[in-house]
Amino acid sequence: MASEPEVRAGLRRAGQEHLLRFWAELAPGRRAALLAQLAQLEPDALGAHCERAAAACARPPGPPPGLGARLQPLPPERLGSARRAHPDARRRWEEEGFRQIAQNKVAVLLLAGGQGTRLGVAYPKGMYRVGLPSHKTLYQLQAERIRRVEQLAGQRHGTRCTVPWYIMTSEFTLDPTAKFFEEHDFFQLDPANVVLFEQRMVPAVTFEGKAILEQKHKVAMAPDGNGGLYRAMADHQILEDLERRGVEFVHVYCVDNILAQLADPIFIGFCVWRGADCGAKVVEKADPEEPVGVVCQLDGVPQVVEYSELSPETARLRGADGSLVYGAGNICSHFFTRAFLQTVTREFEPLLRPHVAVKKVPYVDEEGNLVKPLEPNGIKMEKFVFDVFQFAKNFVAFEVCREEEFSPLKNAEGAGRDDPATARRALLAQHYRWALQAGAHFLDAHGAPLPELPSLPPDGDPPATCEISPLVSYSGEGLEVYLQGRELQSPFVLDKDQARVLRPQDT
Ligand code: UTP
Repeated sequence: MASEPEVRAGLRRAGQEHLLRFWAELAPGRRAALLAQLAQLEPDALGAHCERAAAACARPPGPPPGLGARLQPLPPERLGSARRAHPDARRRWEEEGFRQIAQNKVAVLLLAGGQGTRLGVAYPKGMYRVGLPSHKTLYQLQAERIRRVEQLAGQRHGTRCTVPWYIMTSEFTLDPTAKFFEEHDFFQLDPANVVLFEQRMVPAVTFEGKAILEQKHKVAMAPDGNGGLYRAMADHQILEDLERRGVEFVHVYCVDNILAQLADPIFIGFCVWRGADCGAKVVEKADPEEPVGVVCQLDGVPQVVEYSELSPETARLRGADGSLVYGAGNICSHFFTRAFLQTVTREFEPLLRPHVAVKKVPYVDEEGNLVKPLEPNGIKMEKFVFDVFQFAKNFVAFEVCREEEFSPLKNAEGAGRDDPATARRALLAQHYRWALQAGAHFLDAHGAPLPELPSLPPDGDPPATCEISPLVSYSGEGLEVYLQGRELQSPFVLDKDQARVLRPQDT
């Protein structure tokens, strides 16, 4: 291993000598750990990384010059819609999706390496409870959706099938996630079909282009973005594992969307039917200012253009029918063929351009005190999972209904947008709608009928609280047997194992 003087000389050249500020007071073990980390980062490469990050961050925000002229919306032949499609088409896609699932050709891949700094809890986001009557975590909801979709596909095709679950974690989330799954007996999934792997980390950088000390003997590192997926897949032979299992199609999704429909047969079937190698679910943007990326074309090539890169005029453009021209909001729910993932991992990954993410990075100050900043103080360079769309030979987008499929948990309680309350409300509103459709009626605590409001305002609580286990229903199917004509007192939970309506106090 390189000696301290050698590393110091390298750091000096790279303008990063401050990383050895506390050297004199470090115990031998800590000195060795710091030297090992710095040697692995390579001082010259570290310096170049810091310079790139600071330069990228210093670029003025807003649309790059001339971008507007290079943009077009996706052409209609690249766009499908679950909302607008004829029911026969939906049935065909669903049938195709279930057929692929039943043949063990579909896997789901969860992006769960993020640090969730905005939510601000000290554990992985998947372990978060948004306050449902059942107290389920995001991970549990997802595990149960996998079990249900396997069951539905199996029933249709008279077989037993598996949807393996790949979970990309990072240094922050791997150990607690693994422990959590073990403690919960993998939510009754076979542990052999739950594959955790870890993404790489890159140094966090100040706005002045300096690497940050997170402890006196440790450089602050951050996961390399959800687009780190492709390197991580190569690092951990995930493509080989997919191939060994005979998986052809992978549904990639984010941990924080409480409504995520894992291995959605309609989406899978649509993509397979169209012969797509890469697909993205989109929702109609709520308004031009909504801060989500837009799926469109840049110079004729499919891309996600970030909200901040669209000029306000472009974002507000409307077509003849009044809808936003750039209204296809990306919800981070993607379809990839294994062959496409293979090509990306082998050929295109190095071409992915890192993006600047400005975040709060804990650090040690000059005196050696640990500081948890209240405002963003650092740059993390992140690759994005969707930046591979440009390499697809046959890209398709699939429009879905926001209230059924998208409610991300990003912010801490009380933010009023994308927070635990909005996520909880979105799920309970969905289950309330399903229950009404299945013929249930709700009563209040005194036995008086509650109003039946099939369409709720987005920020309104449903009149009755109703939670349905994903083990009972994946997307509203099969509920009549439990709910048709029933008068149910709010709140209630419909749980699988008991196969009866439970009151929260019974659970
Ligand atoms: P976000 O961009 O919302 O980031 O991630 P985050 O880290 O979860 O939260 P903040 O920004 O710090 O508050 C979107 C999805 O991408 C995953 C996240 O776990 C989430 O599912 N992700 C993000 C990764 O898997 N790795 C990363 O390096 C970053």
